[in-house]
Amino acid sequence: MKIGIVVYSQTGNTLSVASKLYEELKQEGNKVSLIRVEAKRSIKQNVFEIIKTPNVEEYDIIVFASFVEAFRLNPVMKKYLENIETLKNKNIFVFITQMLPYTWLGGNQTLKQTINICEQKEGNIIGSGIINWKNKLRDEKTHDLIDKIVSQLKGIKQHEKKH
Ligand SMILES: Cc1cc2nc3c(=O)[nH]c(=O)nc-3n(C[C@H](O)[C@H](O)[C@H](O)COP(=O)(O)O)c2cc1C
Repeated sequence: MKIGIVVYSQTGNTLSVASKLYEELKQEGNKVSLIRVEAKRSIKQNVFEIIKTPNVEEYDIIVFASFVEAFRLNPVMKKYLENIETLKNKNIFVFITQMLPYTWLGGNQTLKQTINICEQKEGNIIGSGIINWKNKLRDEKTHDLIDKIVSQLKGIKQHEKKH
């Protein structure tokens, strides 16, 4: 079972959470890769070119991670996800980061939007989470999110072994 963590991060917040997750999953003995979507963006933020488009075909489980931009999913990750041909037979976990301290300030909406795109591609959503960068419980919440993903993936692995 191969796990791919696919990240689009501009200022490193989402990447830092994804890197912790990567280390934890590796320590648990998983086959895991962390791969980045990369884009060139001009000062006019909605003008961009995606220069690195990770191929997710080889992964059984994918964690998509990105961030909120103007109360929506940032346009780079949105375009990247929309361009994926299919997510059929993939178990998917989605998490996003946002600066504002509460999930109702764009986070919930962004998460829903991201999940919708994955579901349109026939992906099987197994979980999701939001990290609010300015929330005073950020570290605990990051820890909880990583724990949740690690234990959920452990469950899937055990299930696969039995069948
Ligand atoms: C253009 C722009 C718009 C943003 N809009 C929002 C927003 O609507 N709500 C929010 O909570 N954070 C917003 N943010 C903050 C980012 O979501 C937050 O800093 C995130 O953790 C950045 O992730 P990264 O460091 O992985 O790039 C915005 C950031 C940028 C650059």
